[in-house]
Amino acid sequence: MAIIIDDISRTFREFLILPGLTRKEHIPGNTSVRTPIQRYSREKGPGICLNVPFTSAAMQAVSGTELAIALSRKGGCSFIYCSQPIEEQAAMVRKVKEHKAGFVDSDSNLPVSATLQDAVDLRRRTGHSTIAITADGGRHSKLVGILTSKDFWEFKDDLSQPIKNYFTPLEKLVLAEEGISLQEATDKLWKHKKECLPIIDKDGRLRSLVFRRDYFDHKSNPDELTDDKKRLFVGAALNTFDYKTRARALVDAGADVLCFDSSDGYSEWQTEAARYLRQEFGEKIILGGGNVVTREGFRYLAQEAKLDFIKVGIGGGSICITREQKGIGRGQASAVLEVADERDKYFKETGIYVPICSDGGLNNDTEIILAMVLGADFVMMGKYFAQTHESPTPKITYKSRVYKPYWGEGSNRARNWARYKEGESGPMLFEEGVDAYVPYSGHLSDKVDISIAKLKATMCNSGANNLKEFHQNTRVTRVSELTIVEGGASTVEQLDRIYTERE
Ligand code: IMP
Repeated sequence: MAIIIDDISRTFREFLILPGLTRKEHIPGNTSVRTPIQRYSREKGPGICLNVPFTSAAMQAVSGTELAIALSRKGGCSFIYCSQPIEEQAAMVRKVKEHKAGFVDSDSNLPVSATLQDAVDLRRRTGHSTIAITADGGRHSKLVGILTSKDFWEFKDDLSQPIKNYFTPLEKLVLAEEGISLQEATDKLWKHKKECLPIIDKDGRLRSLVFRRDYFDHKSNPDELTDDKKRLFVGAALNTFDYKTRARALVDAGADVLCFDSSDGYSEWQTEAARYLRQEFGEKIILGGGNVVTREGFRYLAQEAKLDFIKVGIGGGSICITREQKGIGRGQASAVLEVADERDKYFKETGIYVPICSDGGLNNDTEIILAMVLGADFVMMGKYFAQTHESPTPKITYKSRVYKPYWGEGSNRARNWARYKEGESGPMLFEEGVDAYVPYSGHLSDKVDISIAKLKATMCNSGANNLKEFHQNTRVTRVSELTIVEGGASTVEQLDRIYTERE
């Protein structure tokens, strides 16, 4: 007979935070959500940290380069998915590392022979209104001029006209040469009161563009996470099959952190792979893994695989059907509570702190906050990021609402890849994820700002200025079903509901 443990699998919605004493110093401006992503010893204290405790899931529909850039600019970290060929994953990592904040590779380019109609079509496709005119329309070809939406009126000018009658030619542009610093480029824009500064090489070929609006954007991202060479911070996922060649390619491409992507990490596959990678790369790499949902799983990976951080969660993901398919998993709150308890015990016993990440099943900001207070050092999210403008999928409109496609790594759509085949050979016989759509939620930056503002506000309510205090000092209560009803807007009529019913 199986051993039945005396426990009920609980979810985040079953908990509420009790306020602690808020002192005058407990204001969002004084509150830090910086958090470790690397194991550390009691004597040395935390090493590499995230500036915000958010990571994006290693999934095809989530962690592409654009999202990775946007998230690390907010202070978090993406894990570029490994369900793709090694060279393609490494190229994505390289692209993030090569991204020079403020220096934009022009994606809207036309040759001199183009018409205004071509410019309008291109603008619709890219959404960008500054078009570089180059000798042959290539993004790094000889620069000839710049066309912006101010140079013609779409509904007044004859769109069959060639753009050469409209764009600002090279000799009238303010330009800079490759090698200029971002500070110098910004000063030049400011001095000449320009919106855009093209950067060219010594042969006059376009290298990049610097925009005035990006300067303000940069100023509004004080938490940007970078490596010691000021390049954006990025992670990449690994599987336990081709990890030897994959890890080498990812480290060479500049990945700052690697993480095994597996639905069940309590396995000899993962310790074997982790030991190999440590031997190969030493302490040079930050290596995470998982997923586990028990204290035994955590201790095994902390002790035997010596991982830097361990992900917690099986079966809670929004696209996940693992529990239905295989009857395995655990309520995410119970899993985080138990693993966090074991992490703290392990720290007490050994003096080594191994951060944990709550992965999957976070449906809103409240659940993110609860995951953090129940013990997570940081969270990993798929749906949350898949919904944003920066995720790699196209927007789709259905019945006047905007959606983005989102599918599990264990779904048929991503099935050619290894994540769910550990220890097996042959074709995958069943799915563990679904193929779905999620509502579009706008730009990542705005979304993360709101979530972090709420997290900091709750930390202030509970009398905490940092996540350590939030973990240690906060009291949490379990709730009844009726408390959940009481907590919503239940006894008033909300206008949008009345209108929807009338429609
Ligand atoms: P979400 O934030 O609730 O959307 O969950 C994202 C997490 O679900 C990922 O980080 C993975 O741990 C997990 N996941 C990704 N794809 C699958 C799948 O196909 N089946 C089960 N879990 C998945």
